[in-house]
Amino acid sequence: MNKFTTDSVIAIIGGTMGAGIAQVAAKANHQVLLFDVAKGAAEKGIDNIRKGLGKLVLRSRMTQLELDALVSRIVPISDIKQLSSADLVIEAIVEKLEVKQMLFRQLEDICHENAILASNTSSISITAIGAKLLRPQNLIGMHFFNPAPIMKLVEVISGLDTDKQVADNIFELAINWGKLAVHAKSTPGFIANRVARPFYAESLRVLQEGATDIATIDALFRECGGFKMGPFELMDLIGHDVNYAVTCSVFEAFYQDQRFLPSLLQKELLDAGHLGRKSGRGFYQYPQNTQTENS
Ligand code: NAI
Repeated sequence: MNKFTTDSVIAIIGGTMGAGIAQVAAKANHQVLLFDVAKGAAEKGIDNIRKGLGKLVLRSRMTQLELDALVSRIVPISDIKQLSSADLVIEAIVEKLEVKQMLFRQLEDICHENAILASNTSSISITAIGAKLLRPQNLIGMHFFNPAPIMKLVEVISGLDTDKQVADNIFELAINWGKLAVHAKSTPGFIANRVARPFYAESLRVLQEGATDIATIDALFRECGGFKMGPFELMDLIGHDVNYAVTCSVFEAFYQDQRFLPSLLQKELLDAGHLGRKSGRGFYQYPQNTQTENS
């Protein structure tokens, strides 16, 4: 199994997180192919990267030339078959097991047999995704955090059949991309999302019990707890569709352990289409296009 170099072609599939990961790979001088099944989504992702980095140019933290060079390394792709040259594909699509399994199975037919297939899943078992594949040894979890260009941590998650060399190569790649990587086994929610579940769940319960309001809880964690964001700001950033899906996945994986019971309050937001920053409204209201931040 070859190690990655800057000649390795990296393909990214998916929207919000996908664009952030594409930016990270392009910053590390890779040629990046960005694909999304929704028409125009890859182009929109690249546009958001350009806008985000434009702020750094204004602050003289990057030159316009560097910005143009970085963005030119990301190519939007409209047909998934064009990913055949990829040495690594990182999937960041909807958090649903069957959809991810279908996509990876399709990628096995498109990509060369040494290509590594990585999932940015927040909670879905890598072992379970791999069960439907011809080469589960080449499948790994590469879990970035939101926003990917800023957040340091990458969890490198091995399923039962993941090749150790694949895990080591992805770990090394994440380090070369300037990230702090940790190896983890494919347990429900992995490390950070598992530990963070009660943070969201208890905040939602405190709110439902009427102890205080959203802004007070958020301010308390931000101003006094040393957190960058309070729980409601963070759920709005993550997206209630994704955050709720992760809770449901961990809840089911632990045989419906009540500690991980999904919140009806969050389900209500989801049903209303109030997904957080990406839809303009969640617990808070947002002007459109406030999703992207860059470092
Ligand atoms: P998103 O909903 O913003 O983007 C998903 C994108 O995938 C959409 O643009 C959609 O058009 C595309 N898509 C759906 N099915 C597809 C398919 N079959 N082929 C190609 N494209 C397809 O979701 P987001 O927030 O970017 O999350 C994506 C993944 O990343 C999920 O697995 C999530 O759990 C994970 N993740 C999300 C984080 C977050 O804070 N939002 C943080 C870390 C991981």
